[in-house]
Amino acid sequence: MKKAIGIFDSGVGGLTVYKAIRNTFPNEDLIYFGDTARVPYGPKSPNTIIDYSLQNARFLLQQGIKILIVACNTSSAVAIPALQNLSDIPVIGVIEPGAEQAAKTTKNKRIGVIGTEGTIHSGAYTVAINKLLPEAVIFSQPCPLFVPLVEEGWQEHYVANIIAEEYLVDMKKQNIDTLVLGCTHYPLLSKTIQKVMGEEVTLVDSAKAIAAYLSCYLDRENDGQKGKDTFYVSDNESKFSEIAQRILQDNISNLTRVHLYESWFKD
Ligand code: DGL
Repeated sequence: MKKAIGIFDSGVGGLTVYKAIRNTFPNEDLIYFGDTARVPYGPKSPNTIIDYSLQNARFLLQQGIKILIVACNTSSAVAIPALQNLSDIPVIGVIEPGAEQAAKTTKNKRIGVIGTEGTIHSGAYTVAINKLLPEAVIFSQPCPLFVPLVEEGWQEHYVANIIAEEYLVDMKKQNIDTLVLGCTHYPLLSKTIQKVMGEEVTLVDSAKAIAAYLSCYLDRENDGQKGKDTFYVSDNESKFSEIAQRILQDNISNLTRVHLYESWFKD
């Protein structure tokens, strides 16, 4: 039987990753899980994020997947080693692909990283970029309000511009040439962020980066069979569908709510 790629996120934002993977691999079956009951992960402690990530992964493993994609940057920043201990299938987070793309893109070796508080405080992008490019200087900035702005559909609203100006005021002084959008939601704000940072700064979209990276694990051969999409959430399907529609510019079907406390906590 054809096994699917499993993708999880803290909520709806990971659909940016789902979309990039769907576009790159049209024949693959994809199973997406959004932990909408417990979103946001960004302000939570590493231990809590690890616990939630393991539970999400167990749920997806029960569906019989062949690769686990951690779309959530905050989970990717702290939970990959724990997730890799859970099973033998490949577990891929967004940090390494994003770091690789940033290291390839920069010319002046001055790189900015923006993300949730959890992602930025973990230092995961800095470590990953410096592993590839030890001489690179990394500037990071948490931008927590970007997540609710996107979920409200305000990514091009003047309020988004004001908030971006405020968060990025120091970043603009650092003469960076590359900025990593280290959060699922930020690619949706890229127009606003680009305007604030200026055209000379290249934005790295970690969602697109992970889709390209996945090509090392899967071939893109087209067998003519359109891949199946299955979506699960832990709460509020209607809110998920509404935001999903805005992110994907398409309606999603095959969406089910799963209850958190059934089978996830068992090994
Ligand atoms: N998915 C999260 C991330 O990429 C953003 C939303 C949240 O804080 O849970 O870090």
